[in-house]
Amino acid sequence: MCGIVGYMGFRQAYPIVIKGLRRLEYRGYDSAGIAIYDNQALKIYKNKGKVDDLEAIIPDEFRLGHLAIGHTRWATHGEPNQVNAHPHANAEATISVIHNGIIENYQTLKSELINRGYAFKSETDTEVLVHLIEDVLKNQQCSLKEAVRLALNEVTGAYAICVISSLHPGEMIGARKGSPLLLGLGENEFFLASDASPLVEYTKKIIYLNEFEIVELKSNGDFQIFSLENDIISPYIQELSIKLEMIEKGGFDFFMHKEIYEQPKSILDSVRGRIDANLGIIKLAGLEEYRNKLLNSKRIIIMACGTSWHAALIAEYLIEDLARINVEVEYASEFRYRNPVLYPEDVIIAISQSGETADTLAAIDMAKQKGCLILGVCNVVGSSIPRASDAGCYTHAGPEIGVASTKAFTAQLSVLTLMALWLADQKGTLTKQKITEILVQLEGLPDKIQEILPDLDLQTQEIAKDFYESKNFLFLGRGYNFPSALEGALKLKEISYIHAEGYPAAEMKHGPIALIDEQMPVVFVANNMSLKDKLVSNMQEVAARKGKIISISIENETEIKNLSTHFIALPEIHEVLTPILSAIPMQLLAYHIALLRGCNVDQPRNLAKSVTVE
Ligand code: G6P
Repeated sequence: MCGIVGYMGFRQAYPIVIKGLRRLEYRGYDSAGIAIYDNQALKIYKNKGKVDDLEAIIPDEFRLGHLAIGHTRWATHGEPNQVNAHPHANAEATISVIHNGIIENYQTLKSELINRGYAFKSETDTEVLVHLIEDVLKNQQCSLKEAVRLALNEVTGAYAICVISSLHPGEMIGARKGSPLLLGLGENEFFLASDASPLVEYTKKIIYLNEFEIVELKSNGDFQIFSLENDIISPYIQELSIKLEMIEKGGFDFFMHKEIYEQPKSILDSVRGRIDANLGIIKLAGLEEYRNKLLNSKRIIIMACGTSWHAALIAEYLIEDLARINVEVEYASEFRYRNPVLYPEDVIIAISQSGETADTLAAIDMAKQKGCLILGVCNVVGSSIPRASDAGCYTHAGPEIGVASTKAFTAQLSVLTLMALWLADQKGTLTKQKITEILVQLEGLPDKIQEILPDLDLQTQEIAKDFYESKNFLFLGRGYNFPSALEGALKLKEISYIHAEGYPAAEMKHGPIALIDEQMPVVFVANNMSLKDKLVSNMQEVAARKGKIISISIENETEIKNLSTHFIALPEIHEVLTPILSAIPMQLLAYHIALLRGCNVDQPRNLAKSVTVE
């Protein structure tokens, strides 16, 4: 939700910030802006739309300077227009701020500032920060960092900010609470960004700022981190592990398509080094330490949002089925605002690709206060959720840039399968032989997927031609593939804007069946064969009403094939792994339908990848 990037150093700042914004566009793309210090004054350019629209309005001669901040926005307060776009500045344009997050008490602060004579130009919450900082600077002889610190002490809500000022041209200030911000350290140059992608080709040395930290960067290469109380904090410098090619399209037209094709690798990377399949051994270092607590816990509560919530639902099937531990799955956003019953012996699993989702983070905090053990299953290394967790398992899907989650989802499922098997092994609820059988098949999945991807791509491209003008879609599944159906529907609606609903197949007769006619495509996720007969009955109910059946099942499955107008065959696999395979044709189907509808697959309207506001 909003991407921010700042640069101070010996290079021209403009190309670095603009390129950085392009890489952060997945976080929001309804407007963009940049403030550059040209050795005399701050030049600020903003435009509605994407970074390309911003670049189009900036004259070449105004692109010079060694200090700049840029922002790509996902609007919260105020419609996405030029005035509400960031950076925001004071009347004299001597102070400029970019912000990701929400200042919750902005109305009160705004009224106070208006009373003190400050004029507001935008409808944003962010603008109060500009005037607060200005107010401190006017009233106290202090540094820019100190002004920012004092201003932030007035603020409630979430923020990652960068601040520059033409009155303090040798400085750039960053601060975070609730929204991510990392600092890249080069030789006499600094980068501030929402994630590591803007700085990947310049430095490998990074610092993830922690909650309530402020960093003061100086053009002479000095920097210092402070708490909001002004205590000096020792920096913890880490090595960045992502590489440039991981965040480029690599010959694909869209990141989403590339990421679908990366699934053999991302699944392999997520299980590699954690299993010895033939011996039925699973090593999850993050869980070992909490073995006793995990084995003694009466229930696991999984919290997540969006696609990660669908992975959580599948994990519920996995853990209950394999390890016989009671699991509850919660939307983090609901959980945090009801009054849930939590016991200190409860184990929480928080699933999140970005590791930054505000609701999931807040739900974790709540459970932490009750003494629950928190395990994170996250993709972005060093992000907030893993840092707020006691332990966990990273998914090693690599950077996912397409807004619709694909490879992160199947990596989550792979890791969650390992977690369920590890628990089953420790609890003795599965024999070694059963564990080995599943592990061997999981290990073999990447090759299977690699083999079928080109065919699935062509097949779904053809099917898309028949359905891209549909107004509605139904996705149905049972058992392990009921959550898959939810995810299939989500993928389609996210990127093609076709209304789609996922349902447990048997529930169809309690409502959605009323929608079925010859116009209604119904995707049956039917590669989990233990429920085949039940699924076939549901298909017959759809066929009887002339619905168009697109089924995803297994090779040689003639009964299902005969009932379907379109049939996608997957290799047969152990039931518990079927959601990993079935996800792929649904991702591709959504992708091809969206392409035919002329949609921007990677940046669907109104969505953002990292939802750092509630
Ligand atoms: C947004 C993204 C989804 C994602 C969800 C949860 O809505 O567009 O793709 O599933 O947030 O994000 P998380 O990073 O916590 O998995």
